Amino acid sequence: MTGEKQKNAVILAIESSCDETAAAVVRNGREVLSNIISSQIDLHTLYGGVVPEIASRKHIERINQVIEESLSEAGMSLEDMDAVAVTYGPGLVGALLVGVAEAKAIAYGAGKPLIGVHHIEGHISANYIENKELKPPFLCLVVSGGHTHLVKVKDYGVYEILGRTRDDAAGEAFDKVARAIGLGYPGGPKIEKAARQGDPRAIAFPRAKVADHPYDFSFSGVKSAVLNYINGCRMKNIPIVEADIAASFQQAVTDVLIEHAMTAAEEFQMEQFAIAGGVASNQTLRSKMEAACRERGLKFYHPSPVFCTDNAAMIGAAAYYEYLAGKFAGWDLNAVPNLKLGER
Ligand code: KG4
Ligand code: ZN
Repeated sequence: MTGEKQKNAVILAIESSCDETAAAVVRNGREVLSNIISSQIDLHTLYGGVVPEIASRKHIERINQVIEESLSEAGMSLEDMDAVAVTYGPGLVGALLVGVAEAKAIAYGAGKPLIGVHHIEGHISANYIENKELKPPFLCLVVSGGHTHLVKVKDYGVYEILGRTRDDAAGEAFDKVARAIGLGYPGGPKIEKAARQGDPRAIAFPRAKVADHPYDFSFSGVKSAVLNYINGCRMKNIPIVEADIAASFQQAVTDVLIEHAMTAAEEFQMEQFAIAGGVASNQTLRSKMEAACRERGLKFYHPSPVFCTDNAAMIGAAAYYEYLAGKFAGWDLNAVPNLKLGER
């Protein structure tokens, strides 16, 4: 199907898998007519992480307004939509259910087809929005709070997972280390900011490899190394330099991500490489990855930060290719918290 089929479709997309309530209107998978995101970060910051029960309640409170805003910003009504798309997994079950129930009700009431979208497929598809020329095949590194996947995108909606994390996701490691050095939630942007004042060579944190699986990742070791380093400093009464810890940790994580991704790109002779997910908004990762791609003659793609972290425009982008393929969901669509990529 790559590149050949074209059909006009305007899709209302809904995303509620974690702590952002989001809705967007997307034309033909690549043109974002509106992208409304209501973040709950401030609420969850109080607890140092996402509280699932609070997330579900807030989604219920906000979802109708977010959808109304997305339609009005696009200057359209429900009648103008060709389909309603929603993230149905993976994610927090109570949070997903709010979006799924809402999308089903709206689509059924308006007589529109329903499309269920995999959250990771959404993250990958965020790359289509600002890179109109990007088409499969390409290699994509998905780095978010819940996932670290190295994925070969063979065609629209056709994926092969080459590697994944064995323990913590990359974003989860950022969040845990940020908490340990007292920076708070969400950790990624706070570590990135602190790291700007630090020396990335100050502390030698480990770069883990998984034996016999060159594309798999493990981040629990580097996280423990940071915790041990902090405890060691405290016991020896050595001052803790947060900026150096943040910079050295960020360096260790980005080194591993780049090394594994570039090994896979070479092995599978890929010509295009993309990054996606919340951690892909990290400027150090982006510029190091860009340099690594340039060295190897690989074309490098990345979404703008607003399309890296959770949003519904990426769900609308992914949904368009499901629409073209005629993959519609039934009214029995349910939330699947541990949905696997490629599973249908
Ligand atoms: O994709 P996302 O919004 O949600 C999930 O699907 O998980 O990713 C959120 C994750 C969090 O762990 C957050 O700390 C991380 O992305 N993150 C970052 C940055 N911005 C967000 N990590 C590193 N650097 C950043 N600038
Ligand atoms: Zn996400």
